[in-house]
Amino acid sequence: MTSAHNRVAVLHGVNFDVLERRDPEIYGGLSLNELERRIQADARELGLEALCFQTNSEGEFAEYLHRAPELADAIVINAGAWTHYSRAIADALELTGLPAVEVHLSDVEARQDWRRISVFDGLVLDKVSGKGLDGYRDALAALADRLGVAGA
Ligand code: DQA
Repeated sequence: MTSAHNRVAVLHGVNFDVLERRDPEIYGGLSLNELERRIQADARELGLEALCFQTNSEGEFAEYLHRAPELADAIVINAGAWTHYSRAIADALELTGLPAVEVHLSDVEARQDWRRISVFDGLVLDKVSGKGLDGYRDALAALADRLGVAGA
């Protein structure tokens, strides 16, 4: 177990287990596994350790967040559609007390109006949207900076 403060929990919510079946024009056609491999590689390059987690259960997602302070030093969160209405997930994120960045593969500002609303407003350091895979790297870099981790 490392004593460096470099562990980032990368959380995906509902419908990310079937990412490769979602509209490739919007989500890029890649699988969650491919996405997580790229995140792991980017994290290593930045001197971070990524702990990836996905569930379709809102309760499990909240319970993971309850444990997050023991597991991680920072959070990257893509909660999918929960982003737009789940105050329970927002409360659980706030409870962690950890620095967090919100990521969306698609440009949520340029889609339906309801996707512009985020329950994480005011809780996250930053929101990265519409940059696909690269958005995760930006989020990890911002957290590495915040944690004072120098790149590998
Ligand atoms: C998403 C955007 C959300 O609006 C949507 O419900 C998702 C994916 C994204 O990564 O672009 O499930 O979070």
